Amino acid sequence: MSFENAWLQYSKICNEENKKYFFRVYAPDKNRVTTSAIQELACAALKIFDCRMQPAADQDAATISLVLDQERNLGTEGYEITEADGKLQITAGAPAGLLYGSFSCIRRIQCEKPLKGFQERKLPSAPFRMLNHWDNIDGSIERGYSGTSFFFQDQKVLVDDRTRMYARLAASVGINAVVINNVNVKGNATKLIDGTYGEELRLMKEILDDYGISLYLSLNFAAPMELGGMDSADPCDPEVAGWWKEKMKELYTRLPGFGGFLVKADSEGRPGPFTYRRTHAEGANVLADAVKPYGGRIIWRCFVYNCQQDWRDKKTDRAKSGYDNFMPIDGKFRENVILQIKNGPMDFQVREPVSPLFGGLKKTNQMLEVQIAQEYTGQQRHVCYLIPMFKEVLNFHTYCKEGADTVQDIVTGKTFKTTNCGIAAVANTGDDENWTGHDLAAANFFGFGRLAYDMDLTAEEIAREWISCTFGNDSEVQEKIEKMLLMSWPAYEKYTSPLGIGWMVNPNVHYGPNVDGYEYDRWGTYHRADHLGIGVDRTKDGTGYAAQYLEPNASAYESVETCPEELLLFFHYIPYTYRLKSGKTLIQHIYDTHFEGVENVDEMVKLWNSLEGKIPEKAFTRVQKRLAHQKMHSREWRDQINTYFYRKSMIADEQGRTIY
Ligand code: GCU
Repeated sequence: MSFENAWLQYSKICNEENKKYFFRVYAPDKNRVTTSAIQELACAALKIFDCRMQPAADQDAATISLVLDQERNLGTEGYEITEADGKLQITAGAPAGLLYGSFSCIRRIQCEKPLKGFQERKLPSAPFRMLNHWDNIDGSIERGYSGTSFFFQDQKVLVDDRTRMYARLAASVGINAVVINNVNVKGNATKLIDGTYGEELRLMKEILDDYGISLYLSLNFAAPMELGGMDSADPCDPEVAGWWKEKMKELYTRLPGFGGFLVKADSEGRPGPFTYRRTHAEGANVLADAVKPYGGRIIWRCFVYNCQQDWRDKKTDRAKSGYDNFMPIDGKFRENVILQIKNGPMDFQVREPVSPLFGGLKKTNQMLEVQIAQEYTGQQRHVCYLIPMFKEVLNFHTYCKEGADTVQDIVTGKTFKTTNCGIAAVANTGDDENWTGHDLAAANFFGFGRLAYDMDLTAEEIAREWISCTFGNDSEVQEKIEKMLLMSWPAYEKYTSPLGIGWMVNPNVHYGPNVDGYEYDRWGTYHRADHLGIGVDRTKDGTGYAAQYLEPNASAYESVETCPEELLLFFHYIPYTYRLKSGKTLIQHIYDTHFEGVENVDEMVKLWNSLEGKIPEKAFTRVQKRLAHQKMHSREWRDQINTYFYRKSMIADEQGRTIY
């Protein structure tokens, strides 16, 4: 097993029934992306079947044909696969579709499913399917848990074999845009937009272009000052606007076809339009106007909040800030601006309600931001398969439009009839041999892309595909790893913070239990536990956050009786003696789930250990070591949380288990 190939292992398969399609390829289109598709098919054929694919003179002579056909309504990224009489045809409207169709055929072989009789027609669910890398120019990665960056090292941009391997992996699951640098743009990273790194970025873009992936950068809103020596970055100052226009002209001359920018402004110390009493629409629009002549886009993040809160202030609520900041300017953004909204109103906790901006915003392009870097979900030392969580977010009904009101409807363009929408994930990769540190965390990278391309897939289907492509099709391996993946997010939720309350981690690193770690801090991250109960009152008597939702969600969250229990403490302050629907008291629920979560981890450990000899040794040991840590660490979580609440509430565990 070559770990850098991740799910593109292309291991030998003994059953050769699919081999016959990979002898002669006919592909009249000579576009670079089509060429990549052919190369990929040839690579898979050689490695899987030991079969050297040759070019065919025409379709009759071919066993597999890649053809472009504008009549089939497949857009620029959709494809159709048809098998007839022992021949395969992949049809698409544009080269990217041929690439995605080719990867679909390859996956089918990897999963040992017959190509005979195979018919598939797919159009991507989300138009924008992005990865956001939080890589710094010194090579470190903000919230990176898989080594250092493969895009940057010591103030340099890296372009090498790993860039191509990365592009193959990303494209194979349908990713079509990547932001390579951290949203917190500082120091030399600000210079990524001028000529300093021009040649390296041109080379990087060439490689990404081969795989239908657009290159994006994060940008520093204060660049007119830091690079241009101006005394202001006021977006309404004509000189500032002129500076941006000039900069973009230079950049697009160097990098024609460049995608655009991701911007974090006025957040956590980053510069932004608020400094000049301008709105975020004014901030985004000045950039949008500058990139518009070149077809560029501005992806503007809604993660904007006041991080100077006093813990005694019970009215200010970080959860409300995204909505408060952006709702008043709905409709004020240029058409080439997309607002990027984190899935929840706080910050990628293990459980959060869906951001009320989804459903709230009606006249602005929107994109969902999730995090596959496991910042708050075990930092790739714990197993935590996040696709089930993303499915829940996508399936959430906002009630903004009858029949087209889910987050999925919004980000796929169904609700507001647009193609300026999509989904982005904060990436979980680094220069570790296996890309993601934890071998099982690769399922999140794979799964995010697959889900973004095809939101009809279930989390189970995606898990099974990933296991087949990575570890093969042994049924025991399949069943056990699938089981581990699917139990991992619920388990993590059980042994960490209860019922949607979040946080309770060590500040800054965001790892390991610390119930009061963020309790009195300025970041607006409170659980409000005292000797009688716990939870944040976000009803009208509290912060009023629940009212940001459309009905009937607002009323459902407002009342303790109708609030979904998994979010109870996010919305309500609840006494420890309150009885949940299960009949258990809140405190007993906290104790029970924490013991259960640890038992789940013990089960995962057993499942993995029983696979010894069936998984390549290096990966087996790597995962085993992480699981041993997870086992110990989940106990630490259980004991810290249970002990804290036992001491606060003075109510003993009904089952008399050890709580300190
Ligand atoms: C979180 C994370 C930061 C990151 C920020 C963001 O707060 O801890 O490291 O910069 O999100 O999304 O911008």
